[in-house]
Amino acid sequence: MEKKQQLYFVVIAFAVFAPAFAATSISEGQDGYSLSRKPEKTTKGWRVVLSRHGATSRYGNDISQIALDVEFQTKDRLRFKIYDPNNKRFEVPLKIESPPLAAPDISYDIELVNDSSLRFKILRKTTGTVLWDTSLADLIFSNQYLQIATNIPSSSVYGFGEHQHPSFRHNMNHITYGMYTRDQSPKMYANLYGVHPFYMCIENDANAHGVLFLNSNAQEVTLSPEPSLTFRTIGGILDFYVFLGPTPENVVQQYTEAIGRPHFPPYWSLGYQLSRWGYPNIDVVKQTVTRMEEYGIPQDVQYGDIDYMNHHLDFTYDKENYAGLPEYIQDLKKQGLHYVIILDPFLSKDEAQGTYRPYELGEQLGIWVNNSDGITPAIGKALPPGYSVYPDYLNPKTADWWTQMCVEFQNVLPYDGIWIDMNEPSNFLNGQYPGCAHNDLNNPPFVPRISDDSLSQSTLCPDSKTYLGSLYDTHSLFGWSEAAPTFRAIQEATGKRPFVLSRSTFVGNGKYTAHWLGDNHALWEDMHTSIIGILEFNLFGIPQVGADICGFYFDTTFELCLRWTQLGAFYPLSRNHNALDQKDQDPAVFGTEFATIARSVLQIRYSLLPYLYTLFFEAHTLGNTVARGLMHEFTADPETHGIDTAFLWGSALMIAPVLQEASTGVF
Ligand SMILES: *[C@@H]1O[C@H](CO)[C@@H](O)[C@H](O)[C@H]1NC(C)=O
Ligand SMILES: *[C@@H]1O[C@H](CO)[C@@H](O)[C@H](O)[C@H]1NC(C)=O
Repeated sequence: MEKKQQLYFVVIAFAVFAPAFAATSISEGQDGYSLSRKPEKTTKGWRVVLSRHGATSRYGNDISQIALDVEFQTKDRLRFKIYDPNNKRFEVPLKIESPPLAAPDISYDIELVNDSSLRFKILRKTTGTVLWDTSLADLIFSNQYLQIATNIPSSSVYGFGEHQHPSFRHNMNHITYGMYTRDQSPKMYANLYGVHPFYMCIENDANAHGVLFLNSNAQEVTLSPEPSLTFRTIGGILDFYVFLGPTPENVVQQYTEAIGRPHFPPYWSLGYQLSRWGYPNIDVVKQTVTRMEEYGIPQDVQYGDIDYMNHHLDFTYDKENYAGLPEYIQDLKKQGLHYVIILDPFLSKDEAQGTYRPYELGEQLGIWVNNSDGITPAIGKALPPGYSVYPDYLNPKTADWWTQMCVEFQNVLPYDGIWIDMNEPSNFLNGQYPGCAHNDLNNPPFVPRISDDSLSQSTLCPDSKTYLGSLYDTHSLFGWSEAAPTFRAIQEATGKRPFVLSRSTFVGNGKYTAHWLGDNHALWEDMHTSIIGILEFNLFGIPQVGADICGFYFDTTFELCLRWTQLGAFYPLSRNHNALDQKDQDPAVFGTEFATIARSVLQIRYSLLPYLYTLFFEAHTLGNTVARGLMHEFTADPETHGIDTAFLWGSALMIAPVLQEASTGVF
C-alpha cells in the first residue's frame, strides 16, 4: 500500500526553477494562476490548488481559487479536472465509472513544472512523447469564460463534432469549430445537430491517443499549426479524459469503455431502409414498397415521417390519408419488413380540451421545460398547429411519461423502431414566446463561434429551466436525455432489442441510438463529406450511422443517386431519405437499369451482413469501430492518415466508391 502511494509522487516532477526569475515573474504582477502548495495525495491520484493573481481576465468574474484533480483511472485512462473547490458548478451528468483507487500501473507520466508558466504535461511512458503540454498560469477560469490551450504532438487530428468539413484529418490552419446542438442542415464548419468534444491524434511514431473534453456548454475549439488546440467554453468545468491507445482501435475501445459501449442493433436494422418526407398518403407508401419488391431490391425497413401523423401531433396517426396504417404495418411485418415511426419532442398545447392526452397528462405532471421562473412552461412554435411545449427529459418523471406514451402508442401503431428528430431542440422562433430576456445567460459576454452568434436562435432561451439546471448548461443534452427513455420504451413495448435513430447526439449517445447525418443536399460534395461524418461518428462511439442516400434537399439526379446508392450500400446505416416536394428517389423509381444496379450492390451488402453484424457485436462488446479509416489498420503508413475517399468495414473490407460525376472508376 505504502509503496503504491509512493509511486504517484514520483510521477510529479518538480523542475528546479531559477528563484530570481520566478520571483519577479510572480511579484511583478503577471496575471494568472500559480501554485502555492505542493500537490496532495488523493485516493485516485493527486490534487493541487491554484490561486489567481493580477488583473482580471477579459470577461471578468474570475474564480480566484481553482483545484486541479488528477485521477489515474485505469492503466490507459487519465482524468484531469479543473474546477472551483468552493462553489459547485455544472457538471455533465454522464456517469463514467472508475475504480476507487488509483491504477497501480499506468502508461502515462505527468509532469507539473512550477516555473513561471506552471506547465502541466502528460507523456506517453513508452516513448516520452508529450501528449499534452499546457500552461496552467495562462488558463482562464472565469464564471462564463473558461479557456485552456495545449500543444499536441502532431497534426494528425480527427474528431470534434458535429460538423461538416472537407477532410477527415483536420486542417490545423487556425480553424475554429463551435459546438452547440442546432437544427442546422450540414453546412461547412457550422455547428450542427450534435456535440462531441472528442478528438483522436496520431503521434508521429504512429501511436494514437484520444481526448474527451466533457463539457456541455456552448463551446469552441481552435486548431492551430504549432500544432495546438485551444478550448473555450462558457460554463461548467474543465473536465478532460485522456485515452492512451496506443492503436486507433484501442483509443475507441477505451473511450467507449468510459462513455458506454454502443448498443447492439437488431439485425433487421442493418438491412436497407427507405424513407421520405412527403408520402402524401398510405397508397403512395404501398406503391413504393411494391415497386421495390417487383424489382427484387432488398428492403427491410419502411419509415413513417411526420406525414403519418394527424396534424403533426405525436402519438396520433392520420385516419384519412393513412387509413388502415395499423393493418398495413402488420402486413409489412408478415413480409418480413419493419416499420419505424418518427416522434418529435414538442407537444401541442392548443388542441381542444379533452382531446390530446399526451399533452394533458404531461401538463398535469409538470414535466415540461419551464421559463426562467421555473413554474410556467416554455412555449415554442414547431411543427404541430398552434404552440408547443417541450418535455424535459432530464426529469425522471418526464422519462416515465414518455415511456408510457410510447408503450401505449404501440397498441395503436405496432411500430418496430422510433426515430427521434428535431431534438436539438428545434423551435421555429428565436427563443420561446415572447422572446428572451436580456440577461447574462441569454447574452453571455462571450459567444463561441456558433451560427447566428446566438444561443437562442432556432431553439429555446438559455435561461429556461430544466431538472438539472438552466438550458444554458443543459441545452446540448436535450437529444441525449431523450435517447435512454425512448430505448427503454421500445424494449417495453416490443420486448425486442430496440432501434432508435436520433438526430441530436452527445457523448455517450451510442449506447442507445443510431444517427444519421441530418438534412444533407443532393450534391456530389455531400456524398464525399458523408464518409467523413461516418468515420467521425465511429470515433464518437456511434457506429450505426449513415447519411441520407441520394440527398435530402434538392432533386437528385439519376447518376448521383446511383453512385450514392452504391456508396450507401456500405453505410453502417443504409437509408435513403428525401425532403418534402423533392422528386421521388427510391431505387425502384428510375427504371430497370437503375434498379438492376441497385439490386446487385445491395445484394453484396446483404451477402456481407453476417460480417457486418459481427462487427456490431464487437463494437458492443469490445468497443471497436464498425466503419473505420484506413489509418486504423495501417497506422504506420502516413499515406493512410489523410485518406477519406475510401474506408474499411472492420479490418477486412475496403470500400472505394466513385465520388466524381461522369467518372467510371476510382484511380
Ligand atoms: C511555485 O513557484 C512559486 C514562484 O514561482 C513559489 O512562490 C511557490 O512557492 C512554488 N510552489 C511550490 C509548491 O513549490
Ligand atoms: C416546471 O413547472 C412545473 C409546474 O409549476 C413544476 O412542477 C416543475 O417542477 C417545474 N420544473 C422545472 C425544471 O422548473
